Amino acid sequence: MLSKKMQQSLNEQINVELFSGYFYLSMSSYFLGLNLEGFAHWMRMQAQEELGHAMKYYNYLNDRGAKVLFKPIEAPPSDWKSPLHAFEDALKHEKRSTRLINEQMDLAISEGDHATHFFLEWFVNEQVEEESSTNGILQKLRLISDNTSGLLMLDHNVGQRASATS
Ligand code: FEO
Repeated sequence: MLSKKMQQSLNEQINVELFSGYFYLSMSSYFLGLNLEGFAHWMRMQAQEELGHAMKYYNYLNDRGAKVLFKPIEAPPSDWKSPLHAFEDALKHEKRSTRLINEQMDLAISEGDHATHFFLEWFVNEQVEEESSTNGILQKLRLISDNTSGLLMLDHNVGQRASATS
């Protein structure tokens, strides 16, 4: 049986993950508006992954016999000053997700909740990957600066991202 505090924390994360899906879909739309289809594709794949994350939490809460409670999902921003600013925002967002997941892990450890601890390990690893891939693109955008050819080349590269796996 999950503690009340743990149920609340995991329920809140469903909202965070669904918001993340909104957030990246909004970025996808922003990039489409700039005719940067590769970045738009990358963000669309990211949005799909986030919905998959929400489903993992949803399934886990159900598996543990806990009540799933949905809250309103905040509207994401719809515009950014530049691709660089969008990726800065994306990295900031991922760092927030990492912090929340780490707090859940701290709670699982303090409660001796081994099942939740094990469940969250996947997310701890996933956040390392998400921060790394987002930061990798951000650093390239910094290198490119105002070089349009570089931006188009990076757009092509990130457009090769395979379908979401999780
Ligand atoms: Fe659900 Fe971007 O981590």
